[in-house]
Amino acid sequence: MRVMGIETSCDETAVAIVEAPADPRPVGHILANVVYSQLTEHRRFGGVVPEIAARAHLERLDGLIANALSEAKLGFADLDAIAATGGPGLIGGVMVGVMTAKAIAFAHDKPFIAVNHLEGHALSVRLTENVSFPYLLLLVSGGHCQLLTVEGPGRFKRLGTTIDDAVGECFDKTAKLLGLGFPGGPAVERAASGGDAARFALPRPMWRKPGCDFSFSGLKTAVRQAAEKLAPGDGQAIADLCASFQRTVGDVLVDRCANALDLAPAPALVVAGGVAANAYLRRRLETLAVLHGVRLVAPPVKLCTDNGAMIAWAGLERLRLGMVDSLDFRPRPRWPLDTGERIAA
Ligand code: KG4
Ligand code: ZN
Repeated sequence: MRVMGIETSCDETAVAIVEAPADPRPVGHILANVVYSQLTEHRRFGGVVPEIAARAHLERLDGLIANALSEAKLGFADLDAIAATGGPGLIGGVMVGVMTAKAIAFAHDKPFIAVNHLEGHALSVRLTENVSFPYLLLLVSGGHCQLLTVEGPGRFKRLGTTIDDAVGECFDKTAKLLGLGFPGGPAVERAASGGDAARFALPRPMWRKPGCDFSFSGLKTAVRQAAEKLAPGDGQAIADLCASFQRTVGDVLVDRCANALDLAPAPALVVAGGVAANAYLRRRLETLAVLHGVRLVAPPVKLCTDNGAMIAWAGLERLRLGMVDSLDFRPRPRWPLDTGERIAA
């Protein structure tokens, strides 16, 4: 089976084609994976501007689809389905991806599959790693921070979520406060590598509390207050604050995951989403997994941040189960994973 996946829910315009046998096993093959990151469009605003993002998706998407087909040496006729992110995300961008996918599906008489962006992150690990359902998932991205049990496409049980900010957003804010630029996650990780994590004592919201919920707003405020006290241009202090912040995030994620492993034991702990690209946090989770006797599995770094391959793969997993969508599907700005809600009207 071959599925094209289109991702346009935030600031990456991405198209990929993946291939796998029709039987429901993990591990597929990426035939093409092209991404256009709209960094230059948004950098001077210090964040993603929805209208600019939608316009850039519209300008780039057709060319990227042509590039993906030529990279895979395929035509539309060789595909078994067209998948696109149907939400949640910036609605203008989601509409561009969904309308384009529907048009291709209609013109070439192929099934259309609307993929929940979070399901794309949640299943992405199975594209490259042999992980069976169910598994415990820590989903950490720019807009989300959740712990879930993943039982299959459309089958999620939520164990906990953030009651305020997402962890990626916290990385981005920290970078902005410290003048490290955008996107913040990789910049904070780079700065932290030369820093002393013990220098700043920062609060660890929810740490050692029962359950699996998260909170990051108090940490964000503490980082701001510490940043305001730094002497301008003190590179070492910036590195130390980044390292202290990253360690604090690590403490919180490990503590929450430990509770989740007790509440809903599973043979594997999977970490996915943009923040899963962070090598320090992966090491912390690896240590926890070893302590609990479970496997820590993460997608390759390139597939942690938004990409088309994860949408194509989730589409392929759905196609195998006959879970295709009607062309009446409406793009959804909000679309929680755990209700299994798929409203077309
Ligand atoms: O999954 P993603 O690409 O987009 C969303 O669905 O949100 O995640 C983007 C987030 C951003 O907040 C970015 O700063 C963060 O992932 N991120 C990182 C790293 N790379 C990306 N956070 C920490 N360390 C990184 N290396
Ligand atoms: Zn994402």
